[in-house]
Amino acid sequence: MSTIAETDISDLDVSDLSLWKEGPPHEVFRDLRDRDLHFSALSDFPNETGFWSVVRYDDIATVGRDWETFSSNRSILLVNSVAAEPGAPDPMDLGANMMITQDPPRHDRLKALVQREFTPRKALDHADRMREIINAVWDRAIESHPDGRIDLVQDVGIHVPAMVIGDMLGVPREDAEQLVDWTNRTSAFEDPRLVPDLSDLLVALEEFVPYVDAMVTERAKCPMHDLTTAFIEAEVDGEKLSHEEVLMFFFLLMVAGNDSTRATFTSGMKSLMEDPEQMELVRSGAVPLEQVVEEFVRFHPAFAYMRRTATRDVELRGAEIKAGDKLALWYVSGNRDERVFDDPNRFDVRREPNPHQGFGGGGRHFCLGAGLARVEMKIWIEETLKRFESLELDGPTERLSSTFLNQWWKIPVKVS
Ligand code: HEM
Repeated sequence: MSTIAETDISDLDVSDLSLWKEGPPHEVFRDLRDRDLHFSALSDFPNETGFWSVVRYDDIATVGRDWETFSSNRSILLVNSVAAEPGAPDPMDLGANMMITQDPPRHDRLKALVQREFTPRKALDHADRMREIINAVWDRAIESHPDGRIDLVQDVGIHVPAMVIGDMLGVPREDAEQLVDWTNRTSAFEDPRLVPDLSDLLVALEEFVPYVDAMVTERAKCPMHDLTTAFIEAEVDGEKLSHEEVLMFFFLLMVAGNDSTRATFTSGMKSLMEDPEQMELVRSGAVPLEQVVEEFVRFHPAFAYMRRTATRDVELRGAEIKAGDKLALWYVSGNRDERVFDDPNRFDVRREPNPHQGFGGGGRHFCLGAGLARVEMKIWIEETLKRFESLELDGPTERLSSTFLNQWWKIPVKVS
């Protein structure tokens, strides 16, 4: 059988969803890492231009750090627009105000405003609340399924991060689920189960924006001890965030903090359940949980890629990139680059050091919530293993259909 490296791949579209049915196409990426940069069409979006695939660890770091040549401006997705039809309102216009889709100096100004709320120390301040939320979610899952047969994603995974970040933002507990639904529908736009029609994205936003709007107005009048109030009051050089910027922060944190943490926790637990030896290493305490979390993030980066756009003509690994060209930084590939990681397709919680790119390639956009996510996942693993003597996979799993969100939609599990 010939490998892709020996074949003509000019027609290969890395973003073709049929390659992603069982997860990221790691074999395709392995072969791409041995080639010059590959250019793909975006076949599912015929009105969109194609993109270059940046697949080697070093190249991802180079591109990620050079924001002047490789901009995050406007979009971190491969598509420029998700409007239902040309000229129709486009939800991406709203997203274009978030700091993740900005370059310095504006990006840096926005990040500086919130960074002090996301130090590793601050993350530890939330530990008790996280433990409480995790146990409340498990209690409810077991109450609804006394036979111990649960869906790790739908019954547990989707609730915990939403409640944690919702709590920090000051969202009442009873509204957290509604926010999850809105954010799910805006970020999983490739999956027809969540977004049957692209116009549904707008419907979700039409409900979501007024909700947050009202909350921001309320906090401006009546400050509380939450992140929404902190955003309203934050100042750098005497300058405050505008009402729209506060709204965008709220939206960004809901989206970035939700999908990611649940994807990493549920996928990582699945890997542990598939490998009793690894599970025992974790249960016995032979490997510190902090280290286990790093392997979860390396093996299952929650965002398969982030996009950059070239601001000038530039050469990169044999490719003549033109100003305006799109590049996908495939974190799913960088994290399995054999030039950096021994036996990269092996899930091994003993891996140390583990300089993965799951929180980004190290540039200006390195994950704001990395400290928070690390604490949250550590406590989540700890509480889960403490609670159940046994966790086993219990039937066929299903993927979320996406090239951006690297996650499972269904993981049936039997706990006892
Ligand atoms: C396991 C969990 C998480 C993973 C794997 C993850 C991954 C990432 C990645 C790869 C980026 C880089 C974006 C780029 O290259 O353009 C990023 C950025 C970001 N993440 Fe996370 N994230 C996680 C959890 C969180 C949480 C819990 C929060 C918030 C509470 C958060 C907030 C953000 C924000 C605001 C950015 C944008 C930073 C910037 O533009 O400077 N993330 N994340």
